Amino acid sequence: MASQAKTGRRKSAGKAKPKAAPLRVGIAGIGVASSQVLPAFHEGAPYQLAGGADIRAEARDAFAKAHDRPTYATVAELCARDDVDAVWISTPNTLHAEHAICAARHGKHVICEKPMAVNLRECDRMIAAARENRVQFLQGHSKIYQAPIKAVRDVVRSGRLGKVIQILSFNSNDWLQRPRLAPELDTAKGGGLVYRQGPHMVDIVRFIGGGMVESVRGVSGRADPHFDTEGHFNALLQFEDGAAASLTFNGYGYFDVTELTWNIGESGSVQSKGRRFPRKPRLTGPADVDQKAAVAHQRGARPGRPQERRQPFFGLTVVACEHGMIRQSPDGIFVYTEDGREEIPCTTGHGREFELLELRDALAERRNVFPDGTWGKATLEVCLAVMASSRDGRSRRMRHQVPAP
Ligand SMILES: NC(=O)c1ccc[n+]([C@@H]2O[C@H](COP(=O)([O-])OP(=O)(O)OC[C@H]3O[C@@H](n4cnc5c(N)ncnc54)[C@H](O)[C@@H]3O)[C@@H](O)[C@H]2O)c1
Repeated sequence: MASQAKTGRRKSAGKAKPKAAPLRVGIAGIGVASSQVLPAFHEGAPYQLAGGADIRAEARDAFAKAHDRPTYATVAELCARDDVDAVWISTPNTLHAEHAICAARHGKHVICEKPMAVNLRECDRMIAAARENRVQFLQGHSKIYQAPIKAVRDVVRSGRLGKVIQILSFNSNDWLQRPRLAPELDTAKGGGLVYRQGPHMVDIVRFIGGGMVESVRGVSGRADPHFDTEGHFNALLQFEDGAAASLTFNGYGYFDVTELTWNIGESGSVQSKGRRFPRKPRLTGPADVDQKAAVAHQRGARPGRPQERRQPFFGLTVVACEHGMIRQSPDGIFVYTEDGREEIPCTTGHGREFELLELRDALAERRNVFPDGTWGKATLEVCLAVMASSRDGRSRRMRHQVPAP
């Protein structure tokens, strides 16, 4: 990453210290993911929505109507704009590399959805493009932005509980029973549960465990005969310092983990009656473009609804250290020691503003962002190892890991 990345900011005249101009961000790919990002562009935020690009005219029209910002039919047109400082890449996984590199070559900072790319060669090209063009590459949509995960890491780093020895991450939801386009259900195109949800779990345990995974043994499977892609996985990660992380994810939609997390889900919203599983009739094939777009539309309509908000969960995360244990509470984290249970509250951390603030702050402070492309690549390396290990029953040694700061 460039040590002095371009800021892309407008210069202001006069002697008084100028107020930093808001970061102007364009969205590449106006689909379901963008519907989660767009609410972060609220009035008074230190960043602005600069426009959106999508190949679908309906998506562009809806975006222009809802946000009154210009739209473009190609990502290249968005990237070429002088009034855009950064581009949030939320196009399909196979296009992340192409679009991130396009943005970097136009001198735009990049925030990229997970997974960073489909293979490690693409990650290398994306990292190189950012470095060569002196822009920042931020791995977006990582659960390590969430306040409770940061709080767990803070307790670990303080050393008060000794070293981490075990991390458990468990999730179970209906990932494979949500409307998905055919490529999202094709592992060769970066589809399936390991590519799409693995990065979240791996980010959480790498962040808490310090980042440096030494080896990975994985078992992934395709238990729903209607979908020829991963719908579940297990993995055992061993860290260089000897700690172990155990990951279990089931996406078939028979049981929702929020039943174990006070009915609080990924966004921190509380399902008052819990989730109703199983869903009937079950989905038996991919969705078409209109069905998928309807999901984005529904999600986009949600922010206005009054809804109870607590801290966001991504399933269960339980951390064992030499002298105590940590897990998430509804409003923060619980720390267990021989003195009993202490709760450390977290007061923020629901939306997707954290990536935008991290990029803005890194530019203002002239430092590199975290998590950057090397982190995203290291997380993808683990996800790929889960699938490779599952194929031949052998564990994989990691070669591209980077430490958590
Ligand atoms: N589905 C989710 O809940 C979710 C949430 C967060 C992140 N993500 C990530 O976001 C990315 C997109 O997933 P999604 O579910 O939003 O998919 P989606 O299909 O809903 O949205 C992708 C959008 O990109 C557009 N697009 C496709 N090719 C394009 C091109 N060449 N140029 C411009 N636009 C193009 C599509 O028309 C679509 O509107 C993936 O990387 C995924 O892992 C998904």
